[in-house]
Amino acid sequence: MQDFIRADQLDKIEHFIALGYYDSAVKESCALLEEILKKVYRQALADLPIEDRTVLLESEEKIGNRNKSYTKFGFGELVGLFNRSRLLERWGKYTQSNMGIIRSISLDYIVDLRNRLTHDQANQMCTKAEANLAYDALTNWLSFIGYKEMDRGIEKAFTSLNGEEKKQEVSIYDKVKEKVNSDYDSSSVREKRRLKLQSSYSEEFDAQCFEYVLNRMDKKQGLIGLDIGCADGYVTELRFKKEYPFDMVIGVDFNGKLIEKISQEDHGHFYYHQLDLEAKDFDDRIQAIMDEHEIEGFDVIFSALTLHHLKNPQRILMKLRKYLNRGGAIIIRGVDDGAMLAYDDGGLVEKILKETISFENVSDRFHGRKFYTMLCSLGYKDIQMRYQVDDTTHMTFEEREDFFHYYFDFRLSYTLRTLNKDPDNPLYQENHMKMQEMLDELEEKFMKPDFFFSTLTISAIGFK
Ligand SMILES: C[S@@+](CC[C@H](N)C(=O)[O-])C[C@H]1O[C@@H](n2cnc3c(N)ncnc32)[C@H](O)[C@@H]1O
Repeated sequence: MQDFIRADQLDKIEHFIALGYYDSAVKESCALLEEILKKVYRQALADLPIEDRTVLLESEEKIGNRNKSYTKFGFGELVGLFNRSRLLERWGKYTQSNMGIIRSISLDYIVDLRNRLTHDQANQMCTKAEANLAYDALTNWLSFIGYKEMDRGIEKAFTSLNGEEKKQEVSIYDKVKEKVNSDYDSSSVREKRRLKLQSSYSEEFDAQCFEYVLNRMDKKQGLIGLDIGCADGYVTELRFKKEYPFDMVIGVDFNGKLIEKISQEDHGHFYYHQLDLEAKDFDDRIQAIMDEHEIEGFDVIFSALTLHHLKNPQRILMKLRKYLNRGGAIIIRGVDDGAMLAYDDGGLVEKILKETISFENVSDRFHGRKFYTMLCSLGYKDIQMRYQVDDTTHMTFEEREDFFHYYFDFRLSYTLRTLNKDPDNPLYQENHMKMQEMLDELEEKFMKPDFFFSTLTISAIGFK
């Protein structure tokens, strides 16, 4: 469905707006919207359950007075058809998604605009804002149907939904995100060991996500994979298993040291590139990597424990959607500090978590809960949330020890990094000492066989 509208048709509308031909921009946008609505309606007739299809056909008969099919409907009639049959609501239920922003865009206003132009032939009826509105509606609908060129539509709408105005009432979970920066270093021996341990906890969980995605996808061979934040490729090569039908898997990470090292060895169909997900020229850089490997898009994009290090994970998820092949899927995995339970810790875990988020360079400790909303609002479809609960019950002493280190060790690296930047700063020294003491105290409790700790690993899967 995605390529029935050419990029030059969109360029033409942008030119109209730039040159002040606002009426023409509205007319052109409505003409293309008309095409899109027909395509979506046709698709809905093919895919929706029979009860929904019956309602669609009844609405079509009603609006067409029983003698006109939807293929002959004008823009206003099509919008009427969508409203009357509540097509988007049905589609959302069927695909178990809230349809992102598309349901919040009212096409009625654009129908009025279009009618004004049809009924009054005088020139320059529309303002620039109205032309932009019609064009934005068009680009959002194109994004919704997965038109490759059109992620600019989602970007625009997403920015206005999550932009300045929203920042006025930042919740505690978003406050953390504002401080996130990417100075995390996964190349130390200690951190590499922690990541390996982490990987072992989620191996089966990730495999279930991959297998679900691979079973659902129409494409069964010659798949191309991408791992975002691949570190040294250890997890990449375990998750994109050799028996899966991938012809090529590309791993990207901004840690040059790690990428340089793995790039020196032969990894078969795994290739690694240094890439900063937050780089301004991200699009050019990833395109260059794709050109180098002569690929046009990815079938499965995977990202584990990386998005929370980014200042703006939505931005990268939005961009990645553009490089996902139609029918392809993204799998993102993370955790959320709010999902931890502990007893009897005397409130120590809560104190440590609170302390963690007060540091300057902390990653987003509450990112797991945001996955669904992010994917939804960016136009990913058929979103599935998956959870794995890990707890200390039945763990041996050694397993408890590892578990503790996995979930708590890295918190000391925040205070340490800050301290290293200014070793004589008494506040930084105190913070570091305080964290060390709290962690020591918690570790002691943690090792007792009757101490309980549980946490969630959260994954989200979305399709294009
Ligand atoms: C916690 S590690 C996870 C590594 C691996 N995915 C795993 O599951 O073991 C996060 C990775 O994200 C990478 N990373 C953080 N910010 C990044 C950015 N802006 N661009 C690219 N990679 C980034 C880090 O270098 C690190 O390797």
